[in-house]
Order: sequence, then structure tokens, then C-alpha cells
Amino acid sequence: MTGVERWRELNLAWWEERAPLHEASAFYRSGGGGVESFELDDLGSVDGLSIVHPQCHIGTDLISLAERGADVVGLDFSANAIAGAQRLAAAAGVSDRAEWITSDVYDSVAAVEGRTFDVVYTGKGALCWLPDMERWAGVMWDLCRPGGQLYLSEFHPLQDVLEWETTHFERSYFFAGGEVFDDAAGSYADREASTTHDVVVDFVHSLSSIVQAVLDAGFVLESFREFPFTVYARWPFLEEREPGVWFMPEDRPELPLMFSLRARRPD
Ligand SMILES: C[S@@+](CC[C@H](N)C(=O)[O-])C[C@H]1O[C@@H](n2cnc3c(N)ncnc32)[C@H](O)[C@@H]1O
Repeated sequence: MTGVERWRELNLAWWEERAPLHEASAFYRSGGGGVESFELDDLGSVDGLSIVHPQCHIGTDLISLAERGADVVGLDFSANAIAGAQRLAAAAGVSDRAEWITSDVYDSVAAVEGRTFDVVYTGKGALCWLPDMERWAGVMWDLCRPGGQLYLSEFHPLQDVLEWETTHFERSYFFAGGEVFDDAAGSYADREASTTHDVVVDFVHSLSSIVQAVLDAGFVLESFREFPFTVYARWPFLEEREPGVWFMPEDRPELPLMFSLRARRPD
């Protein structure tokens, strides 16, 4: 098998090693990974809603949603991440509103035994790990109840084509299969972390390919926004203008750094 064909095995090993580091990291402990204010603006009140989150990692987004009254189900292919989510939910006092399941995103429908939800919530570092947007959107559809909504907030794919340090263009914006990176030591949440599983395979999905997959699945687009800020300081020169929110410096052109999409599954 080529490196790209081993995407699932390589990425799973990377995430299994990072999940406990993230649970202990200053990034996640200081509120990183929680639901963001722009997401709450998009979502409105979640009180009383059922929400499923494929690729929930250590559960921080869902815990903030459970604290706002939602009943939540989180899935992730990393058993270590799910164990961390269970601990963090217990510490936050929301275990009674939260269920956690170890599952690949593509197996989520079977993992929840066909249940459907008011909101399918996902994103912020989710899609770049997946090779197939059509298949992903079909799973999101099957998790969503008729009349319910898919909510995706993601880092803008434009960022994926720009080098980490310089922002020079280095990758195709359009899907070119996966790419193997064998230098992914440490983690975005702790750059100094000592790690041994340092190979990842990731995938660039253009904005149009994501939107088209959502439409082709049958969803009706209700809201689509691009943002000049990001909740992760990917480049050292970004300016933190609000706690945990970074913008391009004022003397450089603004770029779209994140986007959000809300789409309804018709009744
Ligand atoms: C950056 S996190 C996104 C969650 C959340 N927004 C956060 O920042 O904590 C990405 C998650 O995707 C999960 N993941 C990657 N590929 C997956 C797959 N094929 N199936 C299920 N989970 C997957 C990883 O284990 C990781 O927990």
C-alpha cells in the first residue's frame, strides 16, 4: 500500500497519540476547541435539541453545547479521544446529557444504530482528514432527521494550500488525492510535545466541492459565511485581536480563514 492508501491507519495512530496530550494541553484546557461565538450566532438556541458530532475529538465543542441544554452524541475513531471526552464531560457535570462512541465517521450511522438528530454538528479541523466528500455528505444526511440541520464550521481550504511558515502557495487548491506528511511531530495544541507517530495523510477539499457534496446529498443551503479570522493561530504573524481569535495583520491583505455552512434536510 502507498502512504496515501494507509491514510486511515496513519491518521488514527497520529490522533491516538495526540488525544491524551490534548486533554492535558493548555490549548484545550484554556477553552480552545469549545464552541465559538460565531457558531452560536449561526446555530441559535440549542436548548433541548439533540446534536450529533462526528469527529468530536475530546468532546470540547459538544460539552459546551450540552452546557447550553443540548443532548449530545459524540463519535470519533480515536478511542483515546472518546475516553478523554468521557472524562471531560464528567468533570463539566454533563455526563447525563452526553453519549460517546468510538467510530469512524464513515461508520457513524451504524454506530448510532440509525438514530437521527436535530443537528449534525461538525468541523474545525475535520474535513482535511477525509478522502471522500460525497460519502461524508451522505453520512451527514443519514444522521440528520427530516427537518433537521447540518452545521459545518471549518478552516478555509485556502489555508491548506499555503505553507505553514511563509504562506507561499505550495499545494493545489483542487482535490489532488491525499498527501503524506512525515514531519507532523508535536501537535497544533502543543508544538513542543514529544511524539513518535509523526506521519499524517491529509486532503484538500475546495469550498465548491464541499458545498456541492452537501447539495448533492439533498440538503438545502440556508446560510454560508466566510470569515477573515481563525480560531487557531496557524501562522506566527497572525494578530490575536480578541482572546482566541486571530486575524491577518493590518498591513497584509485579508484572507478568508474560516467558513460556516448551515443546511437543512427537507421534511
Ligand atoms: C481537530 S479534531 C476536530 C474536533 C474539534 N473541532 C476539535 O478541535 O477538537 C479532528 C478529529 O477528527 C478525528 N478523525 C480523523 N479522521 C477520522 C475518521 N476517519 N473517522 C472518525 N474520526 C476521525 C480525529 O480523531 C480527531 O479527533
